[in-house]
Amino acid sequence: MRKTIIAGNWKMNNTASQGVALVKAIAPLVEDAECDVVVCVPAIDIPAVGEALKGTKIALGAQNVHFAEKGAYTGEISASMLKEYGVQYVIIGHSERRQYFGETDETVNKRTLAALAAGLTPIVCIGESLEERETGKTESVLAKQIEEGFKGIEDIKKIVVAYEPIWAIGTGRTATAEQANETIGFIRRKIGEMFCPKCAENVRIQYGGSMNAGNCKELMAMPEIDGGLIGGASLKAPDFAAIVHYNK
Ligand code: 13P
Repeated sequence: MRKTIIAGNWKMNNTASQGVALVKAIAPLVEDAECDVVVCVPAIDIPAVGEALKGTKIALGAQNVHFAEKGAYTGEISASMLKEYGVQYVIIGHSERRQYFGETDETVNKRTLAALAAGLTPIVCIGESLEERETGKTESVLAKQIEEGFKGIEDIKKIVVAYEPIWAIGTGRTATAEQANETIGFIRRKIGEMFCPKCAENVRIQYGGSMNAGNCKELMAMPEIDGGLIGGASLKAPDFAAIVHYNK
């Protein structure tokens, strides 16, 4: 049985004090959560939000991690720096980082291996653009992201995969539940071929892209979908809590 994981990706939203206020509003609403609940916050919010999360059901996540242990990488943050503040999860290879900050499958791979070595759970994002979907390239694009991004992972069930079709992110245009289920099924088969079919059965694969309180139930009812990576709707306590309670 794969345990559902609902994670918020705040992106570049919320100062530390706003973040603290938000998690204080979310925490009582998700006290009875049956799934794993995570908030992935801006790096500078980590100390304050981490403190506010103590004693709650919500785990702390970051939005990126560098692959080196330390050194001359101005502006970057290492896994041990995240760990010291109680960070458990880290998003890696979000399409916005691939698009605006030169992230490649190779750097995604290096960050993922570094996160795993430090005992963090990577949430590795993959997904196709609208043009790639419309020209029938979805599966080949995802296969390449998996082959190159997941190379060398010893225990594949230690990562969480987030399938985020780029055309569904922040657009209000969500993939249909069937589309998301079918594509996540493909991702699982591909992971099975690369590692082993049984290992793939234990990998949690989230859907991300305009998931909200209204559509989460239908998406989450799909057998291949093990959770959500939520952008916009994670910034409002009642909306995020409603997604955590998708089955209520
Ligand atoms: P939205 O939920 O705002 O579409 O963002 C999805 C996302 O990119 C989560 O990482």
